[in-house]
Amino acid sequence: MSRMIAPHPSAPARTVRKAVVPAAGLGTRFLPATKATPKEMLPVVDKPAIQYVVEEAAAAGLDDVLMVTGRHKRAIEDHFDHALELEQALTAKGDTVRLDAVRDPARLASIHHIRQGDPLGLGHAVLCARRHVGDQPFAVLLGDDLIDPRETLLSRMLDIRDRRLGSVVALM
Ligand code: UTP
Repeated sequence: MSRMIAPHPSAPARTVRKAVVPAAGLGTRFLPATKATPKEMLPVVDKPAIQYVVEEAAAAGLDDVLMVTGRHKRAIEDHFDHALELEQALTAKGDTVRLDAVRDPARLASIHHIRQGDPLGLGHAVLCARRHVGDQPFAVLLGDDLIDPRETLLSRMLDIRDRRLGSVVALM
């Protein structure tokens, strides 16, 4: 599964505003790279993979992003937070380009975190979002799954959801 939009069974039609990003897996297939670094934080050119995922959500108008993380995933939480020391150093140097790059992740959306205590699988990770999404429809974007932004895949899925309701799944 690549992308999924899931409505609450009894929810009336409404615009999807929330994204859930499961990122609590152990990433064993990438060991040893993922021993101390979350798979979702591995760089793709100059950004960690998960930033592309949040950018995709933001570009599709989803302004509320819940990350499902775990004990060894603190780097993800830090990446989407402010980095005051870095920001001060770059401000002092007048390096506005890098200052923007450092600030961007925290500005993409309203980002929330919840921990999946044990990595019991993808379905369980999505279930961890139950309280946050309540009875609203939501999108699930895998934290390690990059989609070319030119595809505008998520926006097209949201359009289908608005027109036809139900669940929309993108498979690869
Ligand atoms: P994967 O199937 O790639 O599993 O998860 P994984 O555990 O990350 O990696 P391997 O198989 O050990 O190499 C797909 C997405 O679901 C998340 C992962 O973080 C990834 O973004 N996931 C997976 C969870 O959030 N919790 C889980 O228990 C399992």
